[in-house]
Amino acid sequence: MTKQKTIIAGNWKMNLTAEQSRSLIKELIPSTHSLNATEVWVAPSFPSLYAVQEETCGSSIRVGSQNVHWEAKGAFTGETSPVMLQEFGCSFAIIGHSERRHILGESDQIIAKRVEGALKAGLVALLCIGETLEERENGSTEAVLRRQLEAALMELPKDEAAASKLVIAYEPVWAIGTGKVASISEITHAHQFVYQLVKQMGFAQTIPVLYGGSVTPANFGEIVEIREVDGALVGGASLEAGKFAELIRLGEKRAAR
Ligand code: PGA
Repeated sequence: MTKQKTIIAGNWKMNLTAEQSRSLIKELIPSTHSLNATEVWVAPSFPSLYAVQEETCGSSIRVGSQNVHWEAKGAFTGETSPVMLQEFGCSFAIIGHSERRHILGESDQIIAKRVEGALKAGLVALLCIGETLEERENGSTEAVLRRQLEAALMELPKDEAAASKLVIAYEPVWAIGTGKVASISEITHAHQFVYQLVKQMGFAQTIPVLYGGSVTPANFGEIVEIREVDGALVGGASLEAGKFAELIRLGEKRAAR
């Protein structure tokens, strides 16, 4: 299997003011110089996008948003359109994060629309999927991953153009922000399942699958060695430049093997 670049993506969630975001990205930029096979992505809060875009101009860091609406404009209070995000330098959008699914009640259908809208506008859709603890314990992990993936991807064209604009993040809900990382065998199993399912759905091209959920420099070295892990979506540890830089270094080490 030809490996794509390892993606280390930081999800800053509802943290950091614009000035704090500016400081963090400035601190991080030197760790992204001369990377060979790793891409660094960051998703600041909407109000911090301008500052982060300003600082990352000319660097290899890709900036994205934490959500996106499917329409270009209109009466959608509180939403942000792809074109607005692109104006702020966004090239990707996180979609279907578990906090949006479970705290804010976003349905599979809404998430599917967001994915379609992002792709149509030329943004990369970073689609998050993952089971809750209850779903894992009652044995429905695969059924949940299948439902979430099929809802979001089934209607998309299965051509190279669509596949090259998709990234999937497997994030078990019970591992997000809890310090409880999934085991190597749980991650391997879930990623293999996602890989197979995406292929069965008719996507000819490989779509990168990131792992997310309490990723830190202490556990990522082992996780990134899993063949079906193409990087990480990182919350807490991405808010500290030192930890994020260490994750980038581990990604680069894996990519170089
Ligand atoms: P965490 O968050 O690394 O803090 O667990 C991951 C995520 O929510 O994407």
